[in-house]
Amino acid sequence: MIIAIDGPAGSGKSTIAQAVGERLGLTYVDTGAMYRAVTLLALEQGISLEDDDALGSLALELELEFSESAQGAPRVQVGGRDVTNALREPLVSQKVSYVAAHRKVREALKLRQRAMAEMGDVVLEGRDIGTVVCPRADLKVFLTASVGVRAIRRKRQLEEQGIVVSAKTLEREILLRDSHDSTRSIAPLKKPRDAVEIDTTDLSIEEVVERIEAEAAAVGSDRGGSC
Ligand code: CDP
Repeated sequence: MIIAIDGPAGSGKSTIAQAVGERLGLTYVDTGAMYRAVTLLALEQGISLEDDDALGSLALELELEFSESAQGAPRVQVGGRDVTNALREPLVSQKVSYVAAHRKVREALKLRQRAMAEMGDVVLEGRDIGTVVCPRADLKVFLTASVGVRAIRRKRQLEEQGIVVSAKTLEREILLRDSHDSTRSIAPLKKPRDAVEIDTTDLSIEEVVERIEAEAAAVGSDRGGSC
């Protein structure tokens, strides 16, 4: 089975996709981490965030690995280095939507994401999974939430990493990133026509996961595992 979960920043995609993966025995793929990893490397290497060729090469050559900590928390490694926390640093969050707008970056990462999806039994989360990467996914979900709630969720997530940012600042950053992601010309963030939309503003994680589980049980998996 392939489940695609898309939605704007802070709508709960990572938490929900991980939980759905555990519940249904699906591999969890965080596609945002791939765009963040390219951004982190570009910043570290002083590559211009306007250089489509150089960013495309970074994406093509990205040695990225998803793994789990001893406690089962998802970890991301690039070239053998654990970058899980670095990927969530404010500078990466501010710059990632510029990197993600580049055609060569998107092409390179889309091919990787498809290859992972077509290994089967996966839940992928991102912005264009149901529209571009896996338009034939068995189930497509579009998560939303009010911007205030999304900023508070992001604030708590950063605090766990020891980073303190005000909810107002995060709200501005989230709105700016959503605007870049929804208005770019290639693979913009938008709800797939046939997606189940869930507003998570007033729902618990458990309630959202149960809803997705029920939808997954209803559709079953009959599309041959191709994207
Ligand atoms: O966790 P959060 O919603 O803040 O972001 P993320 O899923 O880590 O994605 C970070 C950024 O990567 C997004 O704002 C997009 O610019 C980009 N992205 C994308 O363009 N396409 C995807 N499939 C996933 C992420």
